[in-house]
Amino acid sequence: MFLQTIQVLALASVILITIGQNVVNQKLHPYGSFSNIFSEEIEDAMTCNKFTCKMPDQNFAGNTCGYFVSANNTVYSQPCEDESLLCFSPNVSQNYTCVINDPFPIALPGDKCSKASDCYLLYSKSCTGGICIGLDLKDSCTSTFQCDPDSSCRKINGAWQCAALIEAGKTGCLNEYDCEYSAGCSIVSLNDTSKNTCIKYGSLTPGTKITNYTCNTNSNVCSSGLCGEDNNGNFVCTDEIISSGQTPLSCPEAYSSTGCISKEDIYLGHGLNGSCLCAYNPNGDTYCSLQKGDAPYVALRNEYSKWQSSSAIKNCNTNWRYPALANSKLQCAADYYDSKDYSAFLYRLLYVSYYVNIYGSEECVLKTLYPFYLQAKDNFNNGGNGNNTDSSISIALTAFIAVLAI
Ligand SMILES: *[C@@H]1O[C@H](CO)[C@@H](O)[C@H](O)[C@H]1NC(C)=O
Ligand SMILES: *[C@@H]1O[C@H](CO)[C@@H](O)[C@H](O)[C@H]1NC(C)=O
Ligand SMILES: *[C@@H]1O[C@H](CO)[C@@H](O)[C@H](O)[C@H]1NC(C)=O
Ligand SMILES: *[C@@H]1O[C@H](CO)[C@@H](O)[C@H](O)[C@H]1NC(C)=O
Ligand SMILES: *[C@@H]1O[C@H](CO)[C@@H](O)[C@H](O)[C@H]1NC(C)=O
Ligand SMILES: *[C@@H]1O[C@H](CO)[C@@H](O)[C@H](O)[C@H]1NC(C)=O
Ligand SMILES: *[C@@H]1O[C@H](CO)[C@@H](O)[C@H](O)[C@H]1NC(C)=O
Repeated sequence: MFLQTIQVLALASVILITIGQNVVNQKLHPYGSFSNIFSEEIEDAMTCNKFTCKMPDQNFAGNTCGYFVSANNTVYSQPCEDESLLCFSPNVSQNYTCVINDPFPIALPGDKCSKASDCYLLYSKSCTGGICIGLDLKDSCTSTFQCDPDSSCRKINGAWQCAALIEAGKTGCLNEYDCEYSAGCSIVSLNDTSKNTCIKYGSLTPGTKITNYTCNTNSNVCSSGLCGEDNNGNFVCTDEIISSGQTPLSCPEAYSSTGCISKEDIYLGHGLNGSCLCAYNPNGDTYCSLQKGDAPYVALRNEYSKWQSSSAIKNCNTNWRYPALANSKLQCAADYYDSKDYSAFLYRLLYVSYYVNIYGSEECVLKTLYPFYLQAKDNFNNGGNGNNTDSSISIALTAFIAVLAI
């Protein structure tokens, strides 16, 4: 039953990205306001569970990895014996159990494969020579997911076809995935792409006016990675957006996202909201999510830039400029990226994704809920020489879903 739930979620996320990359309201958070099935944004009147280690006198039935005691809202945790299992709870008020991970195949053209079913069938023709094969240049297409690496599906001379990605400085894009991997699309018109220009990510300084279409879908063209509507109704790139205090910042209002607001941005005339999240520590503390200009997030943004400017990325579908996380690997990047750069990228991504959740967590809790994070951290600290390309660690489907919501 749990397994079904996970697959449905994975399928839903694939469909969601198909219809436009912006799953949640990501206008101000293009890299995702990462959350996962263990941590939901706190709603009013909700409290956070406390997380600690299983006590010696507790007996866990069969596949229990987290015993939820409602009397004191405490989850006693014990890692799953088999690390390939995922410790999962469908509901914060229930036990966590070890569930099998059967990742839904979402490999796109360019991703490595060993059999046809490894490739996402809607988008790939076959697995040939160990690679998922998509459509060639000029082949008729309905979605960019079908096109081979370094190309996108665009209407050219009235016909939808796979065409080479557009260099920065040139026109013809409808969204950022039409542009070379390190560029986004400055969108002026939704029906006349000759008016739209690819521009390098990060190239627009704070205060630069951009169109609402550009702001809504690819604010990474701004140096801060963020944009918004100012008091005059103009859409502008923001300055770096940082938390209003040292991170992690305790939620100013208990169990509410109200107050999790960044320092004011001079161009917008206001700050940006964050979310109040639960930390899986013995106190069940609450902290505000990171802002995009906070140090751990800046480190992650640098890893994205490095990946997007790499030669390795040219082996990957244009959507994997923001790789999804499946099987605790970054889609496509795991196949082609330099192992040292890869381990830094994965670690920074997981660190930002779970920044609040893991704050003050006991080791046993991390081992139970986030074994893939601990492994990524080890690999990173060992200079990327770990087993990052053949991990048997449980899929971070949760993170995978969150990352797709970029
Ligand atoms: C939760 O797990 C504990 C330990 O395995 C078990 O004793 C208890 O019955 C479980 N509760 C429910 C509602 O399944
Ligand atoms: C929580 O409740 C359980 C079951 O009543 C008890 O064994 C445990 O000691 C309590 N934990 C704390 C931290 O009070
Ligand atoms: C979560 O589980 C509790 C206890 O079984 C139940 O009362 C509650 O309705 C569930 N919540 C959701 C959203 O399913
Ligand atoms: C684009 O849409 C606008 C407004 O709907 C319309 O005036 C214009 O003619 C359209 N341009 C093209 C090239 O279809
Ligand atoms: C963007 O601006 C255009 C023209 O001003 C307007 O028609 C459209 O509704 C706006 N879209 C959004 C998402 O704000
Ligand atoms: C930010 O939070 C405040 C207070 O909760 C809310 O009124 C406002 O609409 C939020 N702004 C956005 C852009 O979500
Ligand atoms: C990689 O994994 C294998 C098998 O699990 C193990 O024997 C080996 O020590 C690991 N190597 C590193 C560097 O962790």
